[in-house]
Amino acid sequence: MKAIGIDQAFISTLVETFYGRVLAHVELGPVFDARLSGRWPEHMEKMKSFWSAVAFRNGAYGGKPVQAHHGVSNLTAELFPKWLELFAATLDDIAPSREAKDWFMATAERIARSLTLSLFYNPAMDDPALKQA
Ligand code: HEM
Repeated sequence: MKAIGIDQAFISTLVETFYGRVLAHVELGPVFDARLSGRWPEHMEKMKSFWSAVAFRNGAYGGKPVQAHHGVSNLTAELFPKWLELFAATLDDIAPSREAKDWFMATAERIARSLTLSLFYNPAMDDPALKQA
């Protein structure tokens, strides 16, 4: 991680910059702010711990991301690609190296996919009986 420029200081900068842009985003901003109004500082600390735990495997984060997204009003599957696009644009502007951007994107895409499946996937949609109908 160090070799590609990912350290605690960069994670802090990334979280601050990214969620600043999330708040300014016409679609993402209101969805986050409706849930986090008055709790933004705690959210930022949590996200810094989350990314350190993933990057450095240091156990800094012990939360439950899937549960945390349950009941977020107006959260739709279509917002995830927009979140990823904004994350990619932020990394294009501030990532310390190409490898660092690639690592954050691969990780975020994996987690976004798993969150999307847990939150929105309905096994009944794959029911062969329904497909024949
Ligand atoms: C459109 C996409 C997304 C939206 C609208 C969204 C929204 C939110 C909101 C509102 C919270 C705060 C929940 C609360 O404290 O009440 C939250 C927490 C969190 N989000 Fe997301 N999120 C999105 C995508 C992602 C992705 C892609 C990741 C991972 C790369 C992620 C990781 C987390 C984590 C780790 C937390 C903290 C969970 C905890 O409380 O322990 N989110 N998100």
